[in-house]
Amino acid sequence: MDRELSDIIKTLKSVIEVEKGFGITEFLMPEKPNPAKKGSGPSGASNLESLEMDVLSCKKCQLHKRRNNAVFGVGNPRARLMFVGEGPGYEEDMQGLPFVGRAGKLLTKMIEAMGLERKDVYIANVVKCRPPDNRNPLPAEMIACEGYLAGQIDTIKPEVICTLGKIASQALLKTEVPIGRLRGEFHAYRGIKLMPTYHPAYLLRNPGDKRLAWNDLKKIMALLGL
Ligand code: URA
Repeated sequence: MDRELSDIIKTLKSVIEVEKGFGITEFLMPEKPNPAKKGSGPSGASNLESLEMDVLSCKKCQLHKRRNNAVFGVGNPRARLMFVGEGPGYEEDMQGLPFVGRAGKLLTKMIEAMGLERKDVYIANVVKCRPPDNRNPLPAEMIACEGYLAGQIDTIKPEVICTLGKIASQALLKTEVPIGRLRGEFHAYRGIKLMPTYHPAYLLRNPGDKRLAWNDLKKIMALLGL
């Protein structure tokens, strides 16, 4: 065998040995282009993992006392679109995942209506632990949790944030303007376009407003070229 070729093979073998040492057992293939994902570059996944570790052991506010699971967030660390809800409900607290109850099923339908899948976007909440009896999170609880969501947003750097409902929209925009007046227009959150829309739980109770929420989602689709 050609000397140069056998040197290349030796080098490759030693690289593979080192990778095995880190637990890497397969070659990573480039992903197919996906309009919902940003281009190449560091994924920020490890940053999210360390934030998640902090959240799972967080005791910054009283909500940690009654939680079954803290709910960090799920989805694509390179998502162009991020949804932000209010806080975990019963199902989310039990499973440790956001938007998996009835409202979550409607959110999934909304995402699919946009031509996307849940794995294309990122889904998180303002507070990571369930407020008792599904009450609104208190201002002190939202402030205690603020750094986690800000860290997720800074890492993912989505092109658009869609806030679901009054609590998330008002918390991120630091306003008390009602959701009915905030929705339908892009606002700015630290240089990122933010579209407030109705919370899926509200839409389950007021299906007549689904049309308005769909108009908001269509504006996001137009902006992202979906
Ligand atoms: N409602 C929210 O705001 N977030 C969830 O994760 C579930 C329901």
